[in-house]
Amino acid sequence: MILAVLAAICTALVAVTHSTSAPRIEQNRQDFLEQSLAPVLAGIDYDGALSESTILIAPPHGLPGDDEVPVYRVYAGGEPVAALFVVRARGGFSGPIRLLIGISADGEITGVRVLEHRETPGLGDLIDADKSDWINQFNGKSLVTPAVTAWSIKRDGGEFDQLTGASITPRAVIKAIKETMLYFESNRDVVFAQGADE
Ligand SMILES: Cc1cc2nc3c(=O)[nH]c(=O)nc-3n(C[C@H](O)[C@H](O)[C@H](O)COP(=O)(O)O)c2cc1C
Repeated sequence: MILAVLAAICTALVAVTHSTSAPRIEQNRQDFLEQSLAPVLAGIDYDGALSESTILIAPPHGLPGDDEVPVYRVYAGGEPVAALFVVRARGGFSGPIRLLIGISADGEITGVRVLEHRETPGLGDLIDADKSDWINQFNGKSLVTPAVTAWSIKRDGGEFDQLTGASITPRAVIKAIKETMLYFESNRDVVFAQGADE
């Protein structure tokens, strides 16, 4: 009898704790997401919470990877200013590389960040903004500057810096950024249309 009463009290306590902490957990989750997205929007003013205008683009879509792609649409004064894509680049040395790619409404890279990778420390992991400045070379680039044909490392006749002794990783990243920009160029209106995933 005593055990049953204790069990009921504990269950009630767990339920109350869960219901009072749920909004706080959700808020923390949103804050974390906003903080993760902000680095690819340095210097850009935008309205409200980025996560409020998320769409999911289902495969087949022509974007890197074959899974659903979240896109965070960014507005200022109600006008589209950028779209942030989370894509999975194939062809890394040690597996897929998850990238956050920001593209302005007029097609320029606002920033790129590596969200997840398994590349080798000291070689491929220099794509990580915490390890080197390599990823920042894409800021302000578009499919016009440089030309779409120059979206490759210098050794392959392109415009972008390679990483010494590790050319597989940069090739994978550059290919994914280029494919994302090509997708955006052809689907800009769809991306910014209200409820484009529905
Ligand atoms: C243990 C080990 C780890 C490696 N890790 C990477 C890596 O993370 N990224 C990469 O592009 N190449 C990596 N490489 C090098 C590749 O094997 C390959 O030589 C290189 O990418 C080719 O680039 P390079 O022509 O500039 O030498 C690694 C090689 C070894 C032996």
